Amino acid sequence: MTRKVILDVDTGTDDAIAIMLAAQSRSLDLIACTTVWGNHDVDTTTENTLRTLDLIGRQDIPVFRGLGRPYAPIPFLFEDHVDSEREVIHPHDFPAPSTLRQASQQPAVEWLVETLRATTEQITLVPVAPLTNIAAAITLDPTIIEAIDEVVIMGGAHALGNVTASAEANIWHDPVAADVVLQAGLERVVLVPLDATHKANMSLRHTAALRAIGTPAAGVAADIVEQRIRGYNETQPQDEPDSAPVHDALCIAYLLDPAVVDLAPYHVAVDTVSPLAFGKTFVDVASRTRKKPNAFVALGADADLFNKLLFEALNEGR
Ligand code: BDR
Ligand code: CA
Repeated sequence: MTRKVILDVDTGTDDAIAIMLAAQSRSLDLIACTTVWGNHDVDTTTENTLRTLDLIGRQDIPVFRGLGRPYAPIPFLFEDHVDSEREVIHPHDFPAPSTLRQASQQPAVEWLVETLRATTEQITLVPVAPLTNIAAAITLDPTIIEAIDEVVIMGGAHALGNVTASAEANIWHDPVAADVVLQAGLERVVLVPLDATHKANMSLRHTAALRAIGTPAAGVAADIVEQRIRGYNETQPQDEPDSAPVHDALCIAYLLDPAVVDLAPYHVAVDTVSPLAFGKTFVDVASRTRKKPNAFVALGADADLFNKLLFEALNEGR
């Protein structure tokens, strides 16, 4: 039986690759994408999500527009340089052709609650964006967690940061929402932070292989990753020259083959107040708090396996 998955996205370049991977993999049943603010405003992330699904011929997958503001107001602003760097990595000019398709009428949070209440089969949630929609859905009806077998989150950082020295964007955008999700008592939470995604980079060698597949979708995927490589070269050069992380896609790769990440159970807490550590995920690797683990955290990843899974999915298509 294929696994039912809901992908919550703020598309976004790496979200687009995650959507392609999830929608083209035969072992996953991507039942919907829900959208949220983050890399762009929610209208733009919704449009980009629809365009990505159109590109791969998966107009059958519905898209539900989610929330456009954080669950709890953010008391800080991006530093100017971080704000401008975002445009280089997630340009407003999204590379997939525009679409006439619209998002479904029902708001994402309402749809999530209704779907999770009604399902007879457990569903996997993959939020690769600020956790605003997921926190709102759980707040509306805490019993929905029983319908979720696993939540795989792209977010957080143990030894890195991409908004501040210690905070990652998805968590920084809505730390209270992240805290709500981490403390909800979910059956299984997998956190895929920057520490793992930066170990599964894609390089120009990988984009050349994607381009050689010869389909429009693989060509756009190569364009998107090359945009990210240019963006990272300019803003956060990586140890491997001409390479970049494609964060969100690693969460889908984990569903396809869990061996792609190294997981260990830890207690994770989120800073929601302090100016210096706002949005930081504190991963208690030395068990100093003596608190029960609330997440399996990926601190390592296998770049070769990640690239193999992505190539195979885009090569097979549907
Ligand atoms: C995360 O933040 C977003 O900008 C990306 O799409 C990814 O989900 C990386 O920090
Ligand atoms: Ca994202």
